[in-house]
Amino acid sequence: MRNTLKVVGILTIFLTWRLSDSVTYKLTNVKCESHNKSWVTINECRLKAINRNKTVFNFNATFHHPTNDILMDYQFLKRENGYKPWLYRKKINGCRFLKRPYDALSILIYRTYKDVSNINHTCPLYGDILIRGMHLTTELNSLPYPTGDYMLQVNWLFYRKIQFVTNVSYQFVENLL
Ligand SMILES: *[C@@H]1O[C@H](CO)[C@@H](O)[C@H](O)[C@H]1NC(C)=O
Ligand SMILES: *[C@@H]1O[C@H](CO)[C@@H](O)[C@H](O)[C@H]1NC(C)=O
Ligand SMILES: *[C@@H]1O[C@H](CO)[C@@H](O)[C@H](O)[C@H]1NC(C)=O
Ligand SMILES: *[C@@H]1O[C@H](CO)[C@@H](O)[C@H](O)[C@H]1NC(C)=O
Ligand SMILES: *[C@@H]1O[C@H](CO)[C@@H](O)[C@H](O)[C@H]1NC(C)=O
Repeated sequence: MRNTLKVVGILTIFLTWRLSDSVTYKLTNVKCESHNKSWVTINECRLKAINRNKTVFNFNATFHHPTNDILMDYQFLKRENGYKPWLYRKKINGCRFLKRPYDALSILIYRTYKDVSNINHTCPLYGDILIRGMHLTTELNSLPYPTGDYMLQVNWLFYRKIQFVTNVSYQFVENLL
């Protein structure tokens, strides 16, 4: 009986400690640029501070013609004397992905904005493409992250030609207690 109590006690302490062993993500900067303004104009690409702990990303671009061929060419960069390539670089077929999401990491990225965007249908993508109030949650936890500053750099290609880029920077801090 006493041993059981001891085990329960230790488990409780351990579980409480695990729960407070929290992580923080914070968006720190966003940069977007169109490489072909006759196809894509960027109307808004901005961070907004909601409170001390929460910064959200608002994005609004207009695709002036429909596209049925999208390549999302992305890489993660980590800052150490400037941004250096870090771990992941991928090329994802955007229209195939919207039909049936594939690739675990890309699904994780998609989840950060899919509920707050109108990119919730299959190709063609056309007109105003919106992301309203995206923020990062600890769901990205499952990545093996060391504390630091990162950037998700994405080149968006239509028909194999670059049309625009989005650079989203964020900070990841592991709050070890
Ligand atoms: C996006 O990031 C890449 C890699 O650091 C950089 O070369 C490029 O100039 C950036 N683009 C914008 C619009 O900031
Ligand atoms: C730029 O966009 C136009 C459509 O407005 C398209 O016809 C043209 O191929 C694009 N240029 C490049 C280099 O992708
Ligand atoms: C922000 O985070 C701090 C520390 O985690 C917490 O004490 C505070 O209540 C949070 N504020 C808001 C507005 O969420
Ligand atoms: C997106 O930008 C377009 C062009 O500036 C504007 O007409 C539209 O109202 C904007 N949409 C939102 C939701 O801000
Ligand atoms: C997609 O998102 C828009 C805007 O949030 C919403 O009005 C629309 O019903 C959604 N469509 C689907 C198929 O979920």
